[in-house]
Amino acid sequence: MEQTKEDLSQQRAAMAVVRKMLEARYPDGKPLAYTHSYGCQQNVSDGEKIRGMLAEMGYDFTSQVEQADCIILNTCAVRENAEFRIYGNVGNLKKLKKANPNLIIGLCGCMMQQAHVAKKIRESYPYVDLIFGTHVFHLLPTMLQKRLQGQKHVEEITPQDGCIIEDLPIRRDGTIKAWLPVMYGCDNFCTYCIVPYVRGRERSRRPEKILEEVRSLASAGYKEIMLLGQNVNSYGKGLEEPIDFPELLRRVDAVEGDFRVRFMTSHPKDCTRDMIDTIARSKKLCHHIHLPVQSGSDRILRQMNRHYDTAAYLELIRYAKEQIPDLTLSSDIIVGFPGETYEDFCQTVQLIRQVEYDFLFTFIYSKRVGTKAAEMDDPVPAAEKSKWLRELLAVQSEIAQKRCESMVGSLQRVLVDSPGKKGPGWVGGKSDGNIAVEFPGDPSLEGQFVQVRVTQAHNWGVMGEIAE
Ligand code: 5AD
Ligand code: SF4
Repeated sequence: MEQTKEDLSQQRAAMAVVRKMLEARYPDGKPLAYTHSYGCQQNVSDGEKIRGMLAEMGYDFTSQVEQADCIILNTCAVRENAEFRIYGNVGNLKKLKKANPNLIIGLCGCMMQQAHVAKKIRESYPYVDLIFGTHVFHLLPTMLQKRLQGQKHVEEITPQDGCIIEDLPIRRDGTIKAWLPVMYGCDNFCTYCIVPYVRGRERSRRPEKILEEVRSLASAGYKEIMLLGQNVNSYGKGLEEPIDFPELLRRVDAVEGDFRVRFMTSHPKDCTRDMIDTIARSKKLCHHIHLPVQSGSDRILRQMNRHYDTAAYLELIRYAKEQIPDLTLSSDIIVGFPGETYEDFCQTVQLIRQVEYDFLFTFIYSKRVGTKAAEMDDPVPAAEKSKWLRELLAVQSEIAQKRCESMVGSLQRVLVDSPGKKGPGWVGGKSDGNIAVEFPGDPSLEGQFVQVRVTQAHNWGVMGEIAE
């Protein structure tokens, strides 16, 4: 269900009211907002809409939290470490609030969607003004209005799934790469994962809305569009028009313009040959697939509720490599899932060696309250899990080096996105395969595609020189 017109016009009205109130409160110049989004790209994308609304309400932005008149932290709940860091950061805001009682502090995102967290914030961090969950971040204007009108604490946390929120103002973080959500939520309930609880059921945006946004990004000069969803392969479920993810990819690929397209995340259980064929035949889709396997042990995959086994996964990889010879691959791996033995872990290492991923995102299992895995026995000590992780990283570093060596001599199309880490005279970017590339070049190349001949391999990426 899409957000209703009335709902959006109510927020627009609130934005106008807040703007007026802020103009009166800050007659000498615009108030400053500081925002930070923790965690995944979906959260960062929500954060861009929060910034869009703040800008429309009359805020300018600062990267110095001490200077801010309004601080919004968009939180992440996927692992405990992220939560600890956020509690620490919120604790540090107390002194800022003391120094500036007009300061407005808001917390939103996945952590706030958990009742026990919202309660803890309410009780232990009473100087937090606004608390809002993932399904209602578009209500920020009415919440700010209530706060400015004198309500001390404003909370909006609905346990209901959000509808789809279209047409919110947006202030994108970059000018070269753009995030574009195609769906929200997740229905998979992997046993370790909090996401289905905090982001609700899967819902897909209408393809017209997605294509409209792709066209507008292309004409604004964006060079890379990242399609986002927790499980993009189940895109289209529940939409009136019958459409699946490969079909969406074909339509995006057909949009005119000089840009490339990535997407994440694919779930191996729903990733089809049609999707792989679509990438192979496309013009704009990058030859890179992020296909999180999580574990190389069939026993653990069952415990994780992943709905595939290693044989099916490896067959998919075999097919993908056959159809797309220059394919690069990446994965997420969880080390130390409850009940995982060293033998299970060794099967993960073996699978990594078999697939030869270009890069990995690795995580030590983190217990999340409310998930099924939180109820499972977890006898392996943390120090042991860290040792396993180090072992895995050493293997991956070897594989990455080897994969990068295989690129030496090749031509890569690189989207330049940063000054090079090697210092002045160097620039950096990513190849179509998402491999880091550094080469001597002028900073004016930033935002452009450049053909680079690879000359040297490292385990973090490659170095080269301009080929044209
Ligand atoms: N502990 C560790 N890693 C997790 N992930 C999700 N939940 C957990 C957890 N409880 C990882 C998975 C997922 C990635 C985004 O985060 O690997 O693919
Ligand atoms: Fe979490 Fe699994 Fe959904 Fe990914 S697919 S968000 S790991 S439940």
